[in-house]
Amino acid sequence: MDFVITINPQAALPLHRQVYEELRQAILLGRLAPGQRLPSTRSLSQSLGISRATVTQGYEQLLSEGYLEATPGSGTFVCDQIPDDLLNTVPIQSTFHVANLSLSLSAYGASLTNRALFRLLELEAQINFSYGRPAFDKFPIDLWRKLLSRHCRFNADVLDYTTDSMGYRPLREAIASYLARSRAVKCSTEQIIIVGGSQQGLDLITRLLIERGDWIAVEEPGYLGARRTFLAQGACLFPVSVDESGLLVSNLTTGTVPNIKLIYVTPSHQFPTGVMLSLPRRLELLAWAQKSGAMIIEDDYDSEYRYGERPIPALQGLDQGNSVIYVGTFSKVLFPSLRLGYLVLPHNLVDVFTRAKWLADRQSSLLEQHALTDFITEGHLERHIRRMRSLYDQRRQTLAQSLVSHFGERVKILGENAGMHLMVKINTTLSDEEITQCAALAGVGINAAHPYYLKDSPGSEFVLGYADIDEEQIKEGVRRLANIVFS
Ligand SMILES: Cc1ncc(COP(=O)(O)O)c(C=O)c1O
Repeated sequence: MDFVITINPQAALPLHRQVYEELRQAILLGRLAPGQRLPSTRSLSQSLGISRATVTQGYEQLLSEGYLEATPGSGTFVCDQIPDDLLNTVPIQSTFHVANLSLSLSAYGASLTNRALFRLLELEAQINFSYGRPAFDKFPIDLWRKLLSRHCRFNADVLDYTTDSMGYRPLREAIASYLARSRAVKCSTEQIIIVGGSQQGLDLITRLLIERGDWIAVEEPGYLGARRTFLAQGACLFPVSVDESGLLVSNLTTGTVPNIKLIYVTPSHQFPTGVMLSLPRRLELLAWAQKSGAMIIEDDYDSEYRYGERPIPALQGLDQGNSVIYVGTFSKVLFPSLRLGYLVLPHNLVDVFTRAKWLADRQSSLLEQHALTDFITEGHLERHIRRMRSLYDQRRQTLAQSLVSHFGERVKILGENAGMHLMVKINTTLSDEEITQCAALAGVGINAAHPYYLKDSPGSEFVLGYADIDEEQIKEGVRRLANIVFS
């Protein structure tokens, strides 16, 4: 195995200690994964040009501290279980040695070394209620392939750099017309910028509008993807609670409230509770933003899926001023690896966002933008959404009915009228960890909701995605969950 670490013979730190530090950092930062085999001491010493005894000394220290384990005859491996407390308490080095230079991480870089903040749930369960994943097997992949190949031929316009970092103009036109029809968003093509999913949109918004120490109000509980971006760029977060009518806007004007520069909201389908921000609260929020001068970020990530109730127009469409940046994504209606989303910006922000997009990555992939334009303008998008809405509706009803029939009074279902997930509150004495771990052992993946709270979470709340699971699996998954809670 080739594995590169950097050793500096001129440094004051002894060589065996450098081997130890470099490997330890590689383990803590995930460059070396649990279970991964290390190179033999002989091959590493040869590639580094140092003695084998020096490398062995470094390995021995890591073995004694529990980072590595040795299996006689097979080699040395990274331990499967690096204790959590070790991951959280060992400060991760924010200085790296490259040749004779000592490089420090920026404040942004240093904030990304907080592993606790970035621990992602990796769910490999047989029945996976992880949220936010559309029904992949129902995506019209043959049609998509046809549209891609239509544009995948010699065509300098598709292969070249673009002169327009805002995105392929016909795609922006198609999005403007789709948003006006389906979400009552008021915008012209000139206000739309294509971005690499909502995540890049949020990143650009934070970079352009936030200084370290500025305050951003966020929903409590709320979406981690947004919070992580805000925190990484040095923002301070002000949590605003959510009730059955959505964000408690009055909390922005009562008590001690810092000077808020941005507020991030998911009004159509609050993440994770699923509640919809009522019309009176929408108007109240817009009035507050106008008065305070704060900008609202409206993340409309899955509003296409609304069951039964009439959709409420987007906040952006109700805005009389220039207080809203609307963020949209194709991750839910098509598929997340497409990495295409869009921002609808007030006119006065368009130029600076276009330049920031150019600096970040020049442009989003043109081939996919061309295919997506045809997908929208030829009517496939709205047809696909209609089909998925009816499929997800069935799956949602199956999930809600199974929960009620197995858990009865001991479950409260929240936010089931929209989206691709619902949130449940289970009346149980088991801890969230006990439930998620027992569920994992039973082959069922679920997310506890406590990581979505900045302050104390009430506990016993879980987010269950249902879009990518068939009805039989949904019933079986709920049956297994009930066995855990009632055993
Ligand atoms: C609240 C919210 N916004 C946005 C997204 C989508 O992010 P992206 O467009 O970067 O894939 C998700 C994904 O689950 C989400 O939950």
